[in-house]
Amino acid sequence: PPHGGFANEPLTDFAIAENREAMLAALAQVEEQLGGEYSLVINGRSVQPNLNLVSRDPADGVTIIGKAPAATPRDAADAVDAAKKAFPGWMRTGAQHRCEYLELAAEGMKHRRFELAAWIVREVGKPWGEADADVAEAIDFLNYYAQQMRTLAEGRVVDVPGEHNVLSYRPRGVAVVIAPWNFPLAILTGMTAAALATGNTVVMKPAEQSPVVGALLMDVLRDAGIPDGVVNYLPGDGELIGPPLVTNPDVSIVAFTGSREVGLAINAEAAKTPAGQDHVKTVIAEMGGKNAILVDNDADLDEAVLGVLHSAFDYAGQKCSACSRAIVLSEAYDDFMKRLKGAVASLQVGLPKDPGTQVGPVIDATSQARIAKALKNLGEEVELAATVEPGADVPAKGHYVNPQVYAGVSQDDPLANEELFGPVLAVIKVKTFAEAIEKANATDYALTAGVFSRSPENLATARRELIAGNIYLNRGCTGALVNRQPFGGFKLSGVGSKAGGPDYLLQFLVPVNVTENT
Ligand code: SER
Repeated sequence: PPHGGFANEPLTDFAIAENREAMLAALAQVEEQLGGEYSLVINGRSVQPNLNLVSRDPADGVTIIGKAPAATPRDAADAVDAAKKAFPGWMRTGAQHRCEYLELAAEGMKHRRFELAAWIVREVGKPWGEADADVAEAIDFLNYYAQQMRTLAEGRVVDVPGEHNVLSYRPRGVAVVIAPWNFPLAILTGMTAAALATGNTVVMKPAEQSPVVGALLMDVLRDAGIPDGVVNYLPGDGELIGPPLVTNPDVSIVAFTGSREVGLAINAEAAKTPAGQDHVKTVIAEMGGKNAILVDNDADLDEAVLGVLHSAFDYAGQKCSACSRAIVLSEAYDDFMKRLKGAVASLQVGLPKDPGTQVGPVIDATSQARIAKALKNLGEEVELAATVEPGADVPAKGHYVNPQVYAGVSQDDPLANEELFGPVLAVIKVKTFAEAIEKANATDYALTAGVFSRSPENLATARRELIAGNIYLNRGCTGALVNRQPFGGFKLSGVGSKAGGPDYLLQFLVPVNVTENT
C-alpha cells in the first residue's frame, strides 16, 4: 500500500448518486430507530439500571436519539473488575490474534458505514462528509494499530557472542478510555483499539452527548468476537463516574480526549498511588487548542480563504484542531477580509441531515450558552466582520450559533486565548511575519497551526519556530489522517504521543528485556 505502508480508508464521494442514495436510505432507517433504549455492557452482559442519559438531536434540541443508562460508581467498579478479570486471558491471546479481532471490527464498520455515519449525523449534528470521515478514521485506527502491533510484537533482538537479548512489550492492564462527543466514533475507537491491540482490557466511557454511537461501537466489537469483559461499555455522567474510574487502583492506563479542565484534573488524580495500587498510572490526555492560521503578504488568497474557512467552520468549529485565530499580515489584510466575508456569507447553515449543509448546530444548549457568553463583552475595537444566518428550515430550539468572524482582535483579548469550541474566528492584524509567529505562539496551547505563504524563507521559519504539534503549510489545519499526519499537541494541549502515529502504542506497553547467557 502507498503512504509509508498504510492505506487510509477512502472517503465516500457523495457526488456519486449511488452513495447519496445509500446515505439517504441509512438516514431513513435511523429515523425509524430513534428513541431506542441502550444498555451498559459489563463482562458481556447487558445491564440497564436506569435510562437517565437521554441523547437529543442538537439540530432541534428535542428529538430523542436514544436513551442510555447513566452508570453509577458501583457500575464503574464492576466494569473495572470485569476488565481486570479478562486481562490475563486477553494478554495471553497472541498479538496476531488480537489484531485479527481489530481488523474484523474494521470490516464490520465498512459494512455498516452509511448506518454509522447516519447515527453520527443525528446524534452529534455532523454534516454528511464530516460524519463519513469520522467512520473512515475509526476504520483507519483499527487497521493502523493492528498493523503497528504486528510490528512491535516482533520485538528487538541483539545477539552478541555468548548472549541473546530480546526486548519485547507487555500490556499494562486495565485501560479506562474517556472519549469526547466531537468524533464520537473515531476517537472512542482509536483509544480503545490502541488499548486492545496492545493486550490491555478496556472500560469504554463515551461522552454523555453521544452514548448511542458508543453503543454501536460496542456492537461492532462484540460482533467481531472480542471476548466478554475485554471491552466494557459504560456510558454515564463524567462528573459522577470519571473520578471513581480514574482513581481505581486496578486501572493502569487512562486515555482521555476532551477539555483541558478535565484532562488536567485526570492527570492530577491519576498521579496518586493510593494503598492497594502497585503501579504508577499512565495518562494520555489530548486536550484543547487555540489554533492559528497565518496569512502572509504574498499568500495565495483564494487558497488561504478556503483553508481558513474550512478550518474555522467545518463541524461548526468543534474540532480541537479547528482554526480559531487568523493572523493576517497588513498588506494582505483588506483583500483577505473582503474575500473571507464573501465566503462566510455563502456558507449554508442548516440541518446536518440535508446533503447541502456545510455548517450544522453546536452540540448542546450548554455549549451554545458558553459561546454566547464569551461574545458578550468584547473589547471596543473588536467588530463583527462577517457572519451568516441559518436557513429558514432550522428549528428555533436547535442549538445553532451563527458562524462569526471578529476583526480588530488583539492577542491579549480572551477571544484570542480561550478555546470556544464553536464557529467563531478571531482575526488579528500584524505588520511582520516575525510578529505573526510570535502571536501564533502566545497561547497556552500547542496543537495545530497553519501558514499560507509563497515565501520559502517564511515557510522555513514557520517549520522551525511555530509551537504546535501539527503544522500545516499552505493548507488548512484540520483533518489529520491516521499515519499521514500523526495527531496531537503539547504545552496545555496534551500529554502523550500522537494518535495515529508510530509512537502511540508504546504508551500502552511495558518494555521488558530478557537476556540469556548462551
Ligand atoms: N484529528 C482531528 C483533525 O485533525 C481533530 O481531532 O481535525
